[in-house]
Amino acid sequence: MTVATTQGAGGPAGITVSSFTSVSLSPPLVLISIAKSSGLHEVFRDAQAYAVNFLSDDQKTVSDRFAGRTREKDRFAGIKVTKGTTGSPVISGARAVVECKAWKVYDGGDHSLLIGEVVAAKTFNSKRPLVYYSQQYTTTEAMEYPAPPSDIVW
Ligand SMILES: Cc1cc2nc3c(=O)[nH]c(=O)nc-3n(C[C@H](O)[C@H](O)[C@H](O)COP(=O)(O)O)c2cc1C
Repeated sequence: MTVATTQGAGGPAGITVSSFTSVSLSPPLVLISIAKSSGLHEVFRDAQAYAVNFLSDDQKTVSDRFAGRTREKDRFAGIKVTKGTTGSPVISGARAVVECKAWKVYDGGDHSLLIGEVVAAKTFNSKRPLVYYSQQYTTTEAMEYPAPPSDIVW
């Protein structure tokens, strides 16, 4: 799970997003998909820069908060943040952050596809990542892969 954050004209904004994907290595590009129906759509579509915060497995409440699932009107109330290199809020306790300069916005049906150029990336801890699967929060489990069969001809 990620929370995309930006420092908008009206203050900080943040939205829980599972649609993060990597796009390109050169230049380094990533994508988030933001619903046009969201109250934060225009803020992120028009943002010059934003951060994608990768949540740790102990940050379910942060994910719910930025998904608008809790009562707080101010999503940042009680949430510790620092200022990233792009000026975007970086959520404390997150596993990692990728900061982006807006690169392009494409139409994606009822979503806008925001492509960002990565200008900074940091890992803060080695906690397990928060994952959303089958409508529930979960996390990853280390897997030992069996040795591949040796008689496969590619
Ligand atoms: C697990 C999960 C994943 C989500 N992923 C996305 C996403 O990729 N894109 C998006 O626009 N909204 C996503 N949302 C929903 C937004 O977080 C939510 O609609 C928004 O914060 C509500 O704020 P609003 O009322 O201002 O639109 C997700 C919500 C949850 C719980």
